[in-house]
Amino acid sequence: MSKTYKIAVLPGDGTGPEVIGEGCKVMDAAAQKFGFKLERVSYDLGGTRYLATGETLPDAVLAELRTFDAIYLGAIGHTDVKPGILEKGVLLRLRFELDQYINLRPVKLYPGVESPLRNKGSKEIDYCVIRENSGGLYTGIGGLSRKGTKDEVAVQQMMYTYAQVERCLRYAFEYARKYGKKARGLGPANTLALVGKSNVLTFMYELWNRVFAEVGAEFPDVKREYYHVDATCLYMVASPEMFDVIVTGNMFGDIITDLAAITQGGLGVAAGGNINPQGVSMFEPIGGTAPMWTGKNAINPIAAIGAGAMMLTALGEEAAGSAIEAAIARTTPKMKSQMADQMGFTTTQVGDLVAAAL
Ligand code: IPM
Ligand code: MN
Repeated sequence: MSKTYKIAVLPGDGTGPEVIGEGCKVMDAAAQKFGFKLERVSYDLGGTRYLATGETLPDAVLAELRTFDAIYLGAIGHTDVKPGILEKGVLLRLRFELDQYINLRPVKLYPGVESPLRNKGSKEIDYCVIRENSGGLYTGIGGLSRKGTKDEVAVQQMMYTYAQVERCLRYAFEYARKYGKKARGLGPANTLALVGKSNVLTFMYELWNRVFAEVGAEFPDVKREYYHVDATCLYMVASPEMFDVIVTGNMFGDIITDLAAITQGGLGVAAGGNINPQGVSMFEPIGGTAPMWTGKNAINPIAAIGAGAMMLTALGEEAAGSAIEAAIARTTPKMKSQMADQMGFTTTQVGDLVAAAL
């Protein structure tokens, strides 16, 4: 009997539904080829629902989402909704409630994709960032006092518990052992680089570095490195080939993964996973709702298709996930560009090409 996976689909706003449609098309082709089934249920969370009902993520919907094998998310955001409401109310709430403590962002330049980095190709741009996704500056601890006076104070605290740091680093070491450059036959070592700011955030990185050494002792096969986050930005541009697996906190991870995304061809290509290794994980193209391109069949679905590949891999269908990635790699050289409306194909045609390449 073939295996069936229950997937909650959150197409979201703007171009979200268009790219998610192509991702589902490709995943269905993979399901047929590799002999499993995907049972999908859609939820209309996002800006449109919020404007109509005032709801972001109702408790009843959250309870239902907990029962799925995975969540496939398009993009959430609306020009008529104040910034922060949907981000905090839907996306971040899902990450926190489902304790998706890992944000996994592969940085891979597919063949034929143009990178703004001169003289860097698929061989040099091939690493991944593991961003801690449950703590740090994202916990919302802080506040304003003496508001409206010249003495007004704004506090927003960066916090991590030992347990949060430990579980994130353990995931990162395991990931580096399994998917590092040595494991993939691409280099002499599997290397995990911790990215922080130990020269200024001394308390925070005393903890991270100590746990890095402690957990690292259990992984003698993984080489350890440490870089400050500012220097990391410089290296990501000048010599991306020096990276294998990077692990970092929530805020630095948010920032460096946008930089990483542009080096791999931009938001049309970059995919990510919000992972709870013991629970329900959620996969998404990391770009936004692209309101300008909505309904035009012009947006690039590669990132959403790549997020689908990551989801299948996480569900245990590694062969299907790798096959989709290979199919993407056979499709990108045919595309003129990874920018919306400049691909030389429509959104649906790109989906068809990847599905056919499978
Ligand atoms: C991301 C996004 C989110 C984040 C926003 C939309 C809240 O930028 O997934 O990187 O900051 O994590
Ligand atoms: Mn971001």
